Amino acid sequence: MEDAFYITTPIYYVNASPHIGHAYTTIVADVLARYHRLHGFRTFFTTGTDEHGDKIAEAAQKAGVTPKEYADRISAQFRALWPELAVTNDYFIRTTDANHVDTVRRILQKVHDAGDIYFGQYEGFYCVGCERFYMEKELVDGKCPDHQTAPEYRKESNYFFRMGKYQKWLVDHIEENPDFIRPERYRNEALAFLREPLEDLCISRPKSRLAWGITLPFDENYVTYVWFDALINYVTAVGYPDGENFRTFWPAAEHLIAKDILKPHGIYWSTMLKAAGIEPYRHLNVHGYWNVDQSKMSKSVGNVVKPLDLKDKYGLDPFRYFLLRDMVFGLDSSFSEEAFVQRINSDLANDLGNLVSRTMTMAMKYGNGKVPAPAAAVAEDRLLRETAARTVNEVEACFADLGFHKALIAIWEFINVTNKYIVEREPWLLAKDPANRARLETILYNLLEVLRITAVLISPFMPGSASKIQEQIGIANAAGQNFDTIREWGALPPGNELKRGESLFPRVEIKTEASPEPAKAEVPPIKPEIAYEEFEKVDLRAAKVLAAEMVPKSNKLIRLTVEIDGERQIVAGIGKDYKPAELVGKTIVVVANLKPAKLMGVESHGMLLATDTEQGLTLLGFDRPPKTGAKIR
Ligand code: ME8
Repeated sequence: MEDAFYITTPIYYVNASPHIGHAYTTIVADVLARYHRLHGFRTFFTTGTDEHGDKIAEAAQKAGVTPKEYADRISAQFRALWPELAVTNDYFIRTTDANHVDTVRRILQKVHDAGDIYFGQYEGFYCVGCERFYMEKELVDGKCPDHQTAPEYRKESNYFFRMGKYQKWLVDHIEENPDFIRPERYRNEALAFLREPLEDLCISRPKSRLAWGITLPFDENYVTYVWFDALINYVTAVGYPDGENFRTFWPAAEHLIAKDILKPHGIYWSTMLKAAGIEPYRHLNVHGYWNVDQSKMSKSVGNVVKPLDLKDKYGLDPFRYFLLRDMVFGLDSSFSEEAFVQRINSDLANDLGNLVSRTMTMAMKYGNGKVPAPAAAVAEDRLLRETAARTVNEVEACFADLGFHKALIAIWEFINVTNKYIVEREPWLLAKDPANRARLETILYNLLEVLRITAVLISPFMPGSASKIQEQIGIANAAGQNFDTIREWGALPPGNELKRGESLFPRVEIKTEASPEPAKAEVPPIKPEIAYEEFEKVDLRAAKVLAAEMVPKSNKLIRLTVEIDGERQIVAGIGKDYKPAELVGKTIVVVANLKPAKLMGVESHGMLLATDTEQGLTLLGFDRPPKTGAKIR
């Protein structure tokens, strides 16, 4: 049988519009779904909305509409958002759907028939925000620790689920299956909670107080507690009890949630399943919270980050990349627009964007617009292949551990090794001599092959960019590309038609208040125009510094031995800004044909280039080291 993978997100409350936290969970679920499809798993991915309960009834009342009208409106916003974020859910569930209502009633009846639901009295502190009763010791200064509001005191006759009966079973299950709740910190949190006696769970609300819910099958006067209703969505979505999807995908369920709802999922849901005679889900995967500029996101503070705003401003793939790259799964993370822009400019525009555009430019120019055929590999080529194979394995290991940021780091190491391969192999120099043709074509082939592999590796995270890369390298049917085809080096067919595309990730201009543009008046006036021929007389070269020492008796002059077309000596007045030892090994820019001059008796055969900064002089350098002696144009 094919392996099955079932991924769920929480079903979101319809009392507020979607924000970056909802987008994160749902995009992580999408990344996992896409990843498993690429591994040939039969995959089912569900998300949806949680529509019953006090919270929604209150919000609807405030908005002056019925709860159903209110739920319809907000649920539609969630449903419409997901395709915009390239989320490929197979199912969208609403707790007001008829099949869900039936499933909840069926399970309630089953648990009731088995004697695990009884009628009793309850009194205690109830937080409407959390939709649950609190024990007095759980309150902080008499308030709900999550909502900072004082809970209501409620006294009611209600139905109770014998949750306490399953405490021992649950502790044993968590201990026998160490990754049932993961990462470990949340498993420990659940176990710590289970060290105290587990109380039974109140699972009903009298209709006299709240009518907005699913009527209990065994008492018309009560509706179901919203959590007992909502959690059941995970089996409704796959057609419990007789649906084919239920047989295929249960119990291969991977639930994805944030830490706020660990208790209902880790404790209520696990014991509910046990009582209903359904096997436990496979894993509860718990992530941390997105804060905004270090503080909690909240409507009243006005710092709620809207996913569509970011997508519209910076593009979808950068948004998905940033969310997965900047949060360590399980820990909290702070969103900042500056950090986001930096990631776009460095990781996306510089590293990946440049790799694609340089490779495509060279392949079009030197390879006649087709994938060339490679000749025999040499040591550096083998190194690149090994890096590719290692990266695929590393990405798989990271996914098994929910280490999405680590998977991206591994992919980016591979991208940067390839960028270095380009710089070191210098295809543009090889292109000058037809005798190097075979070598040049091998290098180009390798680069295109890296693009093929990279496209599959990034596709769960950035599906749009992955397809664009695949189109450029002439893979018409990208559906044939998966993790098996990238384990194999050399699957890109020579002769494929290449198609140069637009830049994948345009750079974002950074304008911050902290670094205003320099006032125009501070820029020295530009000298009178010269003809190109005049400029060309100045022979600028890249020069590697081999040795440096202070000129005796001078506190400013440094004597440098540099390599250009051989070794030569130059003298520079930079001793106040640089120590001689700092200079050795640097590649700098030198005017190589300046008439020799003597400075404090020491001859200088050239002049290095530098400019002023607020911290002193800075030498002109390169962000990619050229060969020593390279001409600067
Ligand atoms: O709890 N950072 O719905 P909800 C990261 N209806 N993720 C966040 C987040 C943040 N700041 N804020 C919200 C409910 N989330 C119930 C669930 S499931 C049977 C019922 C995400 O609308 C995260 O996934 O309050 C969190 O668990 C979920 O939204 C809570 O959504």
